[in-house]
Amino acid sequence: MDWGMSNRLSRMIKPKTGRSVMLAADHGYFMGPTRRLENPRKMLEPLLPYADTVAVTRGILRTSIDPRWDTPILLRVSGGASILKEDLSDEEITTSMKEAVRLNVSAVAISIFVGTNHEKQSLINLSKLVNEGEENGMPVMAITAVGKELEKRDAKYLSLSCRLAAEIGAHVVKTYYCENFRKVADGTPVPLVVAGGPKLDTELDVFNLVYNALQEGAVGVDMGRNIWQNDNPVAMIKAIRSIVHEKATVKEAQDVFLENKGKSAEKATIHGA
Ligand code: 5RP
Repeated sequence: MDWGMSNRLSRMIKPKTGRSVMLAADHGYFMGPTRRLENPRKMLEPLLPYADTVAVTRGILRTSIDPRWDTPILLRVSGGASILKEDLSDEEITTSMKEAVRLNVSAVAISIFVGTNHEKQSLINLSKLVNEGEENGMPVMAITAVGKELEKRDAKYLSLSCRLAAEIGAHVVKTYYCENFRKVADGTPVPLVVAGGPKLDTELDVFNLVYNALQEGAVGVDMGRNIWQNDNPVAMIKAIRSIVHEKATVKEAQDVFLENKGKSAEKATIHGA
């Protein structure tokens, strides 16, 4: 692998553990001001010290993240549909590779929509992005989107989508956790991270999801709503970090959560300043 590509990837997936806690905050690109992410700067600042990567669009990056932060950026570069449309799969590449390089991001992310009306379009978008990524030393994450059809989150569909993404050349794939996730991971020869999806009922449900995904082959999470829609987002991300990087059990993660719950977030500082 080219040095630049390898360096960027290792900023996100930490070489010490081979794992990553990515904080997803790119929902606004089709969902608008998602609950609790209405003011991205306010929500993200206390969380950034605990994120190995933060996923945003260029608009939120420029307006809401201080350029002096050193948290690696995963730049969402696909879009073109909004939540008002029945079919969310009609996406194009919205942000150029030149812009991604100018913004000094660590990777770019694009959704693919396998089995939809725009399957071919989204797969060709991915292949174009991978071609440009290879030229520029920029890793590409493919996101196996399901649009509004949440029931598609099963091993048969996700293993197909993830494998297609890897075959086209995605360097990392983000998908959903599902029953028989091992089948999805085994068929995907690149690092796999899981999204959280809509907010789950309890913190324990989230810790179980993260724990099981890692046991079954994921290298980490790229999670949003189950962190920042929780009343204690910093406690949540710390607990998730303990599973991902410290091999904590679900019970130990719950203890980390309870220890940190209700504490006011430490003042976030830039480069320890
Ligand atoms: C938005 C996304 C999100 O990044 C992804 O769904 C992860 O966030 P969440 O954990 O809230 O599902 O791709 O389009």
